[in-house]
Amino acid sequence: METFRQNSSANAPSFDFVLYSQASLESGRLLAEFFDNGGWYLSKDVHCLIRWGNSSPVQHSFKYEINSLSAVKNTVNKVEMIKKLRKTEGVKVPWTYIPVKTKFKKLNSIVNTFIINKMKPFVFKDICHNNKLVNKISDKEGYYQKLLDIKNEYRVFVFRDKPFLVYVKEGGDKNSLFRKRENGWRLVLLLDGYPPDILGQSIKAVAGLGLDFGGVDVIEDKDGRVYVIEVNTAPQLNRFRARKLAEHIKEV
Ligand SMILES: Nc1ncnc2c1ncn2[C@@H]1O[C@H](COP(=O)(O)OP(=O)(O)O)[C@@H](O)[C@H]1O
Ligand SMILES: [Mg+2]
Repeated sequence: METFRQNSSANAPSFDFVLYSQASLESGRLLAEFFDNGGWYLSKDVHCLIRWGNSSPVQHSFKYEINSLSAVKNTVNKVEMIKKLRKTEGVKVPWTYIPVKTKFKKLNSIVNTFIINKMKPFVFKDICHNNKLVNKISDKEGYYQKLLDIKNEYRVFVFRDKPFLVYVKEGGDKNSLFRKRENGWRLVLLLDGYPPDILGQSIKAVAGLGLDFGGVDVIEDKDGRVYVIEVNTAPQLNRFRARKLAEHIKEV
């Protein structure tokens, strides 16, 4: 399926908006429908180019950039993302250990059980116990994070300073470290009943990463404390979510 119709640069159109994002092209196409049909987007009032799942800079002029390319690239590297989030005021990240080169601290005096987020040579997650850091990783590869006792997981869609959709993750295999649709997890829309703190933290997380838009993964632990886990620049969209996002983009 054609995604982007490449025009020759001589008559290249200029756009009102350029939106950068990573991964899922399917969601990008859905979003495109709310401006007009096609990968380039030309509607009467809004011209928007959606670079969903494409990390190269656009060669066209545009007025507004939704998610800068450099900020998006930063979130692709999860170690860089965690470092930035840790420095962001008002955002709580689970206790994290980022190994420096091949030097490893003794961690068991601090936290007992970790989740390993490994990125190279492929993404995987694992649980490890204190001094048994069997899968030793370096800072280029990933990080260890305190394993939280999860009560609820949320996904908060944020555009600029507005959290516009809040979901709770339901169903699935409670032990799965990949809480995705393929593992039986689904997002259930919430109008209220979530910890109010997740909104403020999500806004700050998106801003702290230099993004305009993101789907923020938040964990509420058994003691009711709230932690930001990651920010997705290409969260799964459906028609409803795409429409909501398009509304916010058009308001810019
Ligand atoms: N520190 C943590 N403590 C407990 N569970 C975690 C922790 N970090 C991640 N998880 C679990 O792993 C899942 C995936 O982690 P996440 O960082 O969102 O990566 P991705 O969604 O890209 O796979 C989360 O939804 C959560 O269930
Ligand atoms: Mg996630």
